[in-house]
Amino acid sequence: GRVLVLAGGLSPEREVSLRSGRRLRDELERVGIDAELRDVDGSTLPTLAAARPDVVIPVLHGASGEDGTIREVLDLFGLPYVGAAPVACRAAFDKATAKATASAAGIATPPAVTLPREAFHDLGAAALIDRLVARLGLPLVVKPRAGGSAFGVSFVEEPGQLAEALMACFGYHDWALIERAVAGVEIAVGILDTGDGPVALPAVEIQPVSGVYDYAARYTPGATAFHIPARLGQDVLRAAAASAVTAHRVLGLRDLSRADFIIDTDGTAQFLEVNVAPGLTDTSTWPMALHAAGLDLAVACRDLAAAASR
Ligand code: DAL
Ligand code: MG
Repeated sequence: GRVLVLAGGLSPEREVSLRSGRRLRDELERVGIDAELRDVDGSTLPTLAAARPDVVIPVLHGASGEDGTIREVLDLFGLPYVGAAPVACRAAFDKATAKATASAAGIATPPAVTLPREAFHDLGAAALIDRLVARLGLPLVVKPRAGGSAFGVSFVEEPGQLAEALMACFGYHDWALIERAVAGVEIAVGILDTGDGPVALPAVEIQPVSGVYDYAARYTPGATAFHIPARLGQDVLRAAAASAVTAHRVLGLRDLSRADFIIDTDGTAQFLEVNVAPGLTDTSTWPMALHAAGLDLAVACRDLAAAASR
């Protein structure tokens, strides 16, 4: 059947998404699938109406892609697609909701608070900073409540850095998630479900050369060392895999996802977030994990597309 890959869009992760989308299209064509890549913009509605693909693979990262919006449009057109339904995307893409849902299912996650831009202005930075530090301690990580690829993310070692971190965050989202920064080993656990239930792929250990997994470390070849499987004990790896599967299930996700964790110094997998449209670029961990499991990106996505269109 004909596969339409949707990528690009208007989120800050537009370029990343186009890289993911182009790779997926090229790989699908390599295995003989008739795949077309379309950017998502004002012409998307007429394109969908005219193209009538057999199945859509949304490879949109960030807002409008991972928050479920585009999938609502696909539902409206009656077009089958790979990945989670809108309501699950919305829950998963909101880091606060994802953390609360994971926590309720028994998964450890660092303590955090959310804060709207208005509170920052109304309460005044100084009072706010005292309260946040009293509540969460230091160091902290400030993130947009929803978003990806580390846009608007800052680490805060001392109270004086918090105001600037919040302002950087509010450049990307109206709400900040201020989280206790946990020391440890960062890992990504991909999930694949081609029909027999969600299975965890080998954990990818992320070791940025700079020490921080920022945008440059994510998308510059060589800027991060990846170890697959992660250099952790078997029981730690098993527990992280189980947590990733649980997060996928309790958030109601479908087909594929990727949960990100810090393994703290006690060996506990601390849940950070889950991605409903994990990056598929050359430096993205989901395809790496797939290959480490002896699977092929094109074949896995062809199988997901076939299952979605049935
Ligand atoms: N948000 C990026 C694309 C990722 O998580 O892979
Ligand atoms: Mg992410």
